[in-house]
Amino acid sequence: MIKIKNDIFILETMDTSYILKKDANGLLKHLYYGKKIKVDDHETFFAPLELSGSFLPGNAIRYDKTEPGNIFLEDELLEISSPGKGDFREPFIELVHPDGTVTSDFVFDSFETYRGKKILADYPSSYAVSNGSFEKSGIGSENISDTASDVCTLKIHLLDRNMPELKLTLIYTVFEKENVIVRSGRLDYSKAEADTGSEGSSEHNASQDKDQKVHADADSEESKDLVFIKKFYSSQLDLDDPDLILTTFNNAWSREMNRVDQPITVGRHMNSRAPGVSTNISNPFFMVESPDTTEDHGNVYGFNIIYSGCHSESVEKNEFGLIRVLAGIDPDVLDIGIGSGGSFQVPEEVLSFSDKGYNGLSRNMHTFINDHIIAFGKAHRRRKILFNSWEAAYFKISESKLLSMAKDARDLGAQIFVVDDGWFIGRDSDNAALGDWTVDNKKFPHGLRSFGEKLKSLGLEFGIWVEPEMISEKSRLFEEHPDWALKIPGKSHSEGRNQMLLDLSRTEVQDHIIKVISDLLNSADIKYVKWDFNRVMTDMFSACVKLYPESHRLNAFYDPEHNAFYSTSVITQDGNEEKPHKERFGTEIYIKDFSSYPYLYYQGLYRVMKVLTDTFPQVLFEGCASGGSRFDLGMLSMFPQIWASDDTDPIERAFIQRGCSYGYPLSAIGTHISSSPNHGTLRNTPLGTRAAISLFGAAGIELDTGNLTSVEKEQIREFVKIYSETSAIITEGSFYRTRPYGNAVLDQIQSFVNNSALLSPDSVLSRYSQNICAWNAVSPDKSASIGMVLQVLNIPDQVRLKISVRGLDPDALYEVVLLQDPLNVKVFGDLINTMSPVHIRQNGFVHGIIEKKVKLRTEELKVKAYGSALSEGGLILPAAYAGTGFDEKTRVFPDFSARLIIARKIK
Ligand code: GLA
Repeated sequence: MIKIKNDIFILETMDTSYILKKDANGLLKHLYYGKKIKVDDHETFFAPLELSGSFLPGNAIRYDKTEPGNIFLEDELLEISSPGKGDFREPFIELVHPDGTVTSDFVFDSFETYRGKKILADYPSSYAVSNGSFEKSGIGSENISDTASDVCTLKIHLLDRNMPELKLTLIYTVFEKENVIVRSGRLDYSKAEADTGSEGSSEHNASQDKDQKVHADADSEESKDLVFIKKFYSSQLDLDDPDLILTTFNNAWSREMNRVDQPITVGRHMNSRAPGVSTNISNPFFMVESPDTTEDHGNVYGFNIIYSGCHSESVEKNEFGLIRVLAGIDPDVLDIGIGSGGSFQVPEEVLSFSDKGYNGLSRNMHTFINDHIIAFGKAHRRRKILFNSWEAAYFKISESKLLSMAKDARDLGAQIFVVDDGWFIGRDSDNAALGDWTVDNKKFPHGLRSFGEKLKSLGLEFGIWVEPEMISEKSRLFEEHPDWALKIPGKSHSEGRNQMLLDLSRTEVQDHIIKVISDLLNSADIKYVKWDFNRVMTDMFSACVKLYPESHRLNAFYDPEHNAFYSTSVITQDGNEEKPHKERFGTEIYIKDFSSYPYLYYQGLYRVMKVLTDTFPQVLFEGCASGGSRFDLGMLSMFPQIWASDDTDPIERAFIQRGCSYGYPLSAIGTHISSSPNHGTLRNTPLGTRAAISLFGAAGIELDTGNLTSVEKEQIREFVKIYSETSAIITEGSFYRTRPYGNAVLDQIQSFVNNSALLSPDSVLSRYSQNICAWNAVSPDKSASIGMVLQVLNIPDQVRLKISVRGLDPDALYEVVLLQDPLNVKVFGDLINTMSPVHIRQNGFVHGIIEKKVKLRTEELKVKAYGSALSEGGLILPAAYAGTGFDEKTRVFPDFSARLIIARKIK
């Protein structure tokens, strides 16, 4: 709900309030964001939230000589900031005016509110849902503004006091139920508007937009007076709590989403790297929290941008202890110019607050992403179990080999069979053929359609791997179009995995990708696509991008008004490259150099993704970028799930998935059972552990079925059965990271973990200090929960392990069971001789026979308890084996063991 009283704007969600104010100077000040506070129906009582006083200290700068009050901007909480008027922190927006000056002074002009929200034309964006009729994804739908009663939007228009032809619009959409506020901004440069004056209301609609463009087009001379945008973040949040922690998720290939906590000290902390992608080095999701925040208690803010390109998050504490949080497109890729009549929109930033700790924030983010980011209709589709050929066979594939694997996969319970890399001509290793998406008839003599039909007759759907944004130097495509590869003519280029990116800023390259992928998807009954992206961006150049002052180009990729796609095509002054659109749509932008290239690339990529996902709504697309190097909300807007990491070792994966879960729902996280020893780490782990970790996401199987014993096959079948029974809980329910407690040793470990994160924030090893990882998911109606506890290393004489099962109905009675796995007698090694009348040689022939004959199971547990007892009191697992005795109640829990715990409501 949005309440407006006496120049104060109050944005309320179910549990939070966000309050800003227009002051006597017209400046927008930020008053509060946090736990919901009481708002009087008639009056506002927010004076305690403002700094008052008459004199400025020492060398303070007075904001404006002619304006009332003694305001020193550096010591204020501001809703937006710009340079040149006494605020020395990093600004929200930084512009270079036609006269070369860089001082901006945006003051309030007008506002408007409406129910629902509009989608953005230039980027994927969140969407509101009023009823089940909204069938398409968050961008590009006809239904551009719906009227969901719990979603409403506020737009505040500001004009630059010294250059009123510049209008800055701040856009806030309030998602009440999810406790989310989505922010974005738009800059309009319009001499026409300044001339007619805009005092009072400046209601701004699509037809006015159009008029302005026509005007601008007719007067091309005017567009030479450019304003260059050096910085334009999507959100700014000023906080006056000096003791906060910044939590980011950083690391590298195969160890993504490592949580790093660091106290915010004076100065600036940046979470940005610019390899042309959102990256595993610094995921765009981050949190700012009180130091006492735990999983279930404490104040925490969460932020995430709906964008896949270069992002930047800046968190700065100034000399007065004020903290500024900025998030948006990385300023390093901006420096984009607009002329009179032009405009520039920034992507949306998702903000949320919870006073219920990290878990509270995660639940806000999960619900929001499932319901308002991931394409509707797919988000809540139960995920089918897939089988992927990569770690099973790598490039050594053929139809006959794959079909025999497919039979095994079907017998294990898989529903989709995915042919990963290696299926197209010339692709026998990773050094050739990207770009040539023609099936290799030596490997598939009867073609893909026939292969897909054979899969169908086995009861399997057909899935396929592609990497459409790339080109290999050894490829037909490169021979035909060497200039389509991203490289600088006449200079040697860098390579990643022996490949280059395609220049997606070019319309013909976008059209080519759309055509080849459409042809592929039409060539067989394909239901799933793994869309990979295995290198980051270097050598930025495009033969078709003419730099300022030579040309400008259209920016937007989608016209909501006409429900049509437009390219991000280049338009040179002589018109040579102009694409034959009936109506020109979009804003005209100028770029000075190729540092802005990633911006253009993503405009092109989003167009490609949007056309393909709209044309093939029956296909489930899974994003991948050498694992999780492009795990972000921009991708999730069109691809409902993302392969979280190439690291399939369950111990690594537990912490990677746990990292993802802070900001992303489990429905978005691709998770597969792999073989042991793991191909990446060579670590041996029990199948039960590999299965338990894979259960919590969009699950699959990725191993050589030929190596499975009959016991292992049965175990995987059991896993598939549990997945099909519980996947709705996992992908649609509420998720809680829990921690074991109630024991001195574990408490010591936990406090070490808590402290170690602070002591060594950048340590890539910090996650290994977490010995236990535990969580549970609860169905939306609270009738069932599935939980998991994993122990990395076994601790001697530690028989007690207590976990909690959170989120249950406190007054309902549940039956709780531990799922039992086969227990291999060899786990006891030569201890077998303590029971055997004759000596048995370890791993010898007799030991092998005993292994087959003796069918042990992990411990039994079946208890009843009320939800409140399980949540508050906890569940003590059966005592662990500690060097003495073994029976069916003993929890044999060596290194890398895990258990699944199911609770079902019985009353
Ligand atoms: C990347 C992906 C893997 C696999 C290979 C195929 O590394 O992350 O899962 O698809 O490419 O080349």
